[in-house]
Amino acid sequence: MKILLAGGAGYIGSHTSAALLESGHDVVVLDNYDNSSPEAIKRVEKLTGKPVSLYEADATDSKAVFDIMNKEKPDCVIHFAGLKAVGESIKQPLRYYRNNIDTTLTLLECMEKTGCKKIVFSSSATVYGEENPAPCNEEMRKGSCTNPYGWTKSMMEQILQDAAVADPRLTVILLRYFNPIGAHPSGQIGENPRGIPNNLMPYITQVAVGKREKLTVFGGDYDTPDGTCLRDYIHIMDLADGHVKAVEFSQNHKGVEIINLGTGQPYSVLDMVNTFQKENNIRVPYEIGPRRGGDLPVVYADAGKAEKLLGWKAKRNLADMCRDSWRWQKNNPNGYDGLEIEK
Ligand code: NAD
Ligand code: WQD
Repeated sequence: MKILLAGGAGYIGSHTSAALLESGHDVVVLDNYDNSSPEAIKRVEKLTGKPVSLYEADATDSKAVFDIMNKEKPDCVIHFAGLKAVGESIKQPLRYYRNNIDTTLTLLECMEKTGCKKIVFSSSATVYGEENPAPCNEEMRKGSCTNPYGWTKSMMEQILQDAAVADPRLTVILLRYFNPIGAHPSGQIGENPRGIPNNLMPYITQVAVGKREKLTVFGGDYDTPDGTCLRDYIHIMDLADGHVKAVEFSQNHKGVEIINLGTGQPYSVLDMVNTFQKENNIRVPYEIGPRRGGDLPVVYADAGKAEKLLGWKAKRNLADMCRDSWRWQKNNPNGYDGLEIEK
């Protein structure tokens, strides 16, 4: 199959590109490099020995997207293109709503015009909101999100579902990711955050490599076994494999499916720090600080539906995630482009 990855040069898109190529699919990537670099795709080509059709384009630019889709005629679109920083979305909600919703509408309109009927969407566990207790399963009603980023995901799910009602030939797979971390085992591609990382694992690796002095653990007084929050961390290569399965499943399926991509196994912030230190034999200084607004104490997946429907199950463990994250950071202290990290 030929797959168009909108936002495919980013963290999840680059690993998914590699997994799709390794599984024999053709890959077309469209990205505006707002939060990524074409270098990631060059490395994917080197790793796999296979070419990617790469376009610099904005997924909100109807003409550009139409031209690419009309030329490439993909069998399926994976929609990764979006802004994803939770804190930034609180400060710049309009930018988040404009970009994230507009990319979704533009892709759907261009799919309609060019006859593409399959779309896989990067959704998030955040749509379960505050109301649903872990483990989250796909039957639960969506909840109240704690930030504009989360609301864009919730709204985009609705838009995609409405589009599928209006066009019964459409297949929509809403993948709800939990917490993707780790990197390709080669250490050649990985997560490349700009500025101060928002997420836990890139912060840990930047402390370990000496770019930041210490990690602040956001809250040590939660009602959890060690007082820190529990999350469902999933290896990026498992997540990438989940996309391959979802794309292949979409070929013989119509309508909407919501599918969690998680491991079903929660770990605490301190589990992460301790496993990282032990596996990599390196110190990660930390202190317990105040809670971060909007954090839920416990979030993890019921991962049963993905196994039943896609035959997919996460295979890598927390030690693999910690080792692979560190290999990428150690080999590429400045990411792809040598950008200076803001202090
Ligand atoms: P990322 O920022 O690395 O990748 C997103 C890509 O989209 C980037 O390459 C960026 O340049 C591109 N992009 C953004 N706006 C665009 C536009 N208008 N036109 C073209 N390209 C555009 O992030 P990621 O971690 O790879 O996430 C991919 C998707 O998965 C995002 O939609 C994100 O919200 C979602 N998601 C991520 C996580 C996570 O923890 N990483 C969790 C749940 C959901
Ligand atoms: C994990 C844990 C923090 C940084 C976010 C988004 C979600 C999805 C994934 C999407 C929490 C703690 C973190 C630090 C810390 N994103 N932490 N010190 O918040 O579960 O999910 O990313 O696209 O929508 O909300 O992930 O990695 O930010 O935090 O103690 O410096 O690590 O409090 O318990 P989160 P995270």
